[in-house]
Amino acid sequence: MQIIQELTLLKKIIKDVKKDGLSIGFVPTMGFLHEGHLSLMRTAKAENDFMVMSIFVNPLQFGVGEDYEDYPRDLERDEKLARSVGCDLMFLPSAKEMYPAGYATFVKVEKLTERLCGASRPGHFIGVTTVVAKLFNLVSPDRAYFGQKDAQQAFVLRKMVQDLNMDLNLIILPTTRESDGLAMSSRNKYLTFEQRKNSVVIIESLKMAEELADQGVRNVEEIKKAIYEKISKAKDARIDYLEIVDTEKLLPLTEIKGQCLIAAAVKFGKTRLIDNIILEV
Ligand code: PAF
Repeated sequence: MQIIQELTLLKKIIKDVKKDGLSIGFVPTMGFLHEGHLSLMRTAKAENDFMVMSIFVNPLQFGVGEDYEDYPRDLERDEKLARSVGCDLMFLPSAKEMYPAGYATFVKVEKLTERLCGASRPGHFIGVTTVVAKLFNLVSPDRAYFGQKDAQQAFVLRKMVQDLNMDLNLIILPTTRESDGLAMSSRNKYLTFEQRKNSVVIIESLKMAEELADQGVRNVEEIKKAIYEKISKAKDARIDYLEIVDTEKLLPLTEIKGQCLIAAAVKFGKTRLIDNIILEV
């Protein structure tokens, strides 16, 4: 596995890989890898000739007072894990090279970014789309892999790829979960023992919503009320948002019909966790 920091060196290697006619699968991450990242990387490895992963804790997507400084980092462990899934190239750019003095270009996807995490974290998605557009330009992947846990991020990036005519296939893979159902996230590390135990209420309430829909409940307010009630009973849990939206424009629904996304962000103390399920009725 090659470990590369400099942008010019990366571009040279990518040029050679392309010259050899190899396909490139890419998994961008912010590091502190878990099984969710590894499953994306395994698929990227299986579906492509050359697998690239990046680790970059992107300052641009963190708001003031968010956890940029505290975001968990463990490069040594990440390196071992990346090797264990057959990564060919690990890209570790610096913030100085990604955003040199005078940097002035940003990518903004409108509308899709207005609700859910976009409303709770103003500016977050401009940071995500800008860095991912830059990474796509540097790595030139044939396929790039993202998890459904960050469903809005994946939909926004899919729109960016489409609108900017980027020549790659964006693949969204199912959320990887702990044995009790909690969606894997690097931020789970922040949870205290008790918060970790209680955090399972998020997926339990989403599953309860699915059951209600299976039983024929179609009214969105009724389903949201049931989720609110269940989550508010969990100690320390505070709902940041809970939305039931369509999967095209991410607009709120009044009735469950067709394909819809139930997405929630819940805070346990200072730790904000997100999760979602897609329903098809
Ligand atoms: O999902 C993440 O880890 C980040 O938002 C991403 C896509 C690597 C961009 O920084």
